[in-house]
Amino acid sequence: MKKRLLIATGGGDCPGLNAVIRAIVKRASFHREWEVLGSIDAFDGILRDPMHLVELTEERVSGIHVMGGTIIGTTNKGGPFAWPVKNADGSWGAVDRSQDLLDRLRYQNIEAVINIGGDGSQRISQSLFEMGCPIIGVPKTIDNDLSDTDFTFGFQTAVDVASDAVDKLVTTAASHHRILILEVMGRYAGWIALHAAIAGGAEVCLIPEIPYDIEKVMDAIHKRTDLGKGFAIIVIAEGAKALGGKMVFSENDEPGAMKIQLGGVGLQLSHQLKAVGCEIEIRETILGHLQRGGRPNAFDRVLASQFGVKAFELVLEQKWGHMVAYKHPDIIGVPIKEAIRHYNLIDVDSDLVKTARGLGISLGD
Ligand code: F6P
Repeated sequence: MKKRLLIATGGGDCPGLNAVIRAIVKRASFHREWEVLGSIDAFDGILRDPMHLVELTEERVSGIHVMGGTIIGTTNKGGPFAWPVKNADGSWGAVDRSQDLLDRLRYQNIEAVINIGGDGSQRISQSLFEMGCPIIGVPKTIDNDLSDTDFTFGFQTAVDVASDAVDKLVTTAASHHRILILEVMGRYAGWIALHAAIAGGAEVCLIPEIPYDIEKVMDAIHKRTDLGKGFAIIVIAEGAKALGGKMVFSENDEPGAMKIQLGGVGLQLSHQLKAVGCEIEIRETILGHLQRGGRPNAFDRVLASQFGVKAFELVLEQKWGHMVAYKHPDIIGVPIKEAIRHYNLIDVDSDLVKTARGLGISLGD
């Protein structure tokens, strides 16, 4: 009987997931004793009745490395430790189905699991590992907020999309002599914002790691208008906040969903600028899920492929509870518990921040 490896992709999708899946399947094909299955929509494919699993053959994954999304689906709702259930009164609650998940994996003769996901998914990996699950993690997220890896795949593609948006906003801002605000994703980290601001040449970049002073933002705009430039580009991370202020979010009450949905800080910034006397016209763009969709760029295809190959090698070595990670120039395995210990936020004293300051980009402080 063949050994069975299960792949799941969990959390928000990001460019490069299919490249990881393909790389795992290709690497596993050298070992004919293994067969690879995909669980549809993260671990829901195992937990649903009937189960929804697909065989991942070399034929099935051929050419998918250039495709966005994930051919096995994903979800950022619920999961084995908080499976949504409808109560008798119609309200939604959650139950722990982690033991059920392990029983079902055993029933399916699954000998190894590779869980491709971000912070939330790797927390699930760690908890399952502690319950005895033979599991390997692969870090993905456009936010680049997982520790112990230089980059997660998906991030560079998101930065390309955000930088391209800055380029486009520059031409229209210049034509209309406006301030254009670009709100980008990234959750509690400013990686996408800061990279896009540097790549695109923005005047102001506001990130969660540095709460902004609206007067300082106004100063930067004045400095620019004094130079005769009648426009400015501000890149703001969705998790940014004003000094003494709060992050802008809405409560998501969909069953099993993450409760906090960030978004809207760009519009808030626009109001704040007007409140301190900004007389230049302002418009806001929320880049949203465009940053997550579409084809991965070459960097992410390479990184995702490296992660996939290494993940299968960790399976062969039975390095359960480890996550693949990029530590330039190597691809290594690190304990998942280290990677989820804290968020990878921007170090405000880092060279990246110094570069931005050196270019005259105002960080609002
Ligand atoms: O973690 C990836 C991410 O795109 C964040 O940048 C963003 O805050 C969140 O997911 C959006 O989630 P959803 O797709 O549920 O709106």
